[in-house]
Amino acid sequence: MEVESRAKMEKTHTKPKNAWENFFKDKTHGGHRYSSEEFLAMEAREKLFHLDGGKTLLDFGCGSAELLTYYALEYEQLLGVDFSPSMLGEASKRIRERKCNNIDLILADHEILWENLDSTFDRITAAGVIQYLSFQEIDAFIAKASEHLNSDGKMVFFDILDPRLYPLWKLGVFAPNAGLLKALYRMSCDFQNSILAALKNRPRNIYGFTHNPYKIQKIANKHGFEMRYIQSMYYEYKYHAIMFRT
Ligand SMILES: C[S@@+](CC[C@H](N)C(=O)[O-])C[C@H]1O[C@@H](n2cnc3c(N)ncnc32)[C@H](O)[C@@H]1O
Repeated sequence: MEVESRAKMEKTHTKPKNAWENFFKDKTHGGHRYSSEEFLAMEAREKLFHLDGGKTLLDFGCGSAELLTYYALEYEQLLGVDFSPSMLGEASKRIRERKCNNIDLILADHEILWENLDSTFDRITAAGVIQYLSFQEIDAFIAKASEHLNSDGKMVFFDILDPRLYPLWKLGVFAPNAGLLKALYRMSCDFQNSILAALKNRPRNIYGFTHNPYKIQKIANKHGFEMRYIQSMYYEYKYHAIMFRT
């Protein structure tokens, strides 16, 4: 037993940090469109509408608990998980300030998280996180999460980058002042950023990978879930994947 747990610890400690783990290790905010509490409350309300009930909730990639503290008003017991120590530091502060005594936090990534869990949940959610996982990682995540999701539970991935809309957003097509010159300017800034990121060996930007909804749906189906595609209310280029057992 002792050897086993030491082996587990060694695995945790020697696991090489991925680029995103390094990127987030000193970040303190989830990168919402506006950081005002008024906006966060509106975003949380949209998400709570789609989560639609349940008593227990696991929020994967909870960041600084900007949404989790709003979820806490409607759930009995919540668990926030993140691999960034600085994000979890901010989350603890926010949870204390708001007296959300029903939230626990765990420092873990998408792989080691499951080794630390001894309960199941009515809802498993991730907001603005799936873009940091590859399709293989999403596949493994759904497989593991389904073991920890109650039979009538729901898994919801919020705000996945839509590859059909994200390039248009980057060109400013959805901006009120969209125009050709502005689009060209944005393209040149993006090009410069890509070069700098490649030279410094860091991610190009905070946005991560896009994922086609059809591919997410195929993975969900493979694990016995049906997937509903919903356009994000506050981000024109993002969508939500709502998964439930058939
Ligand atoms: C864009 S922020 C969103 C935070 C939060 N969900 C929100 O909406 O405010 C993404 C968060 O996911 C976390 N994250 C990304 N990949 C992760 C992984 N593989 N395991 C655990 N946390 C991860 C980051 O540390 C970061 O806190």
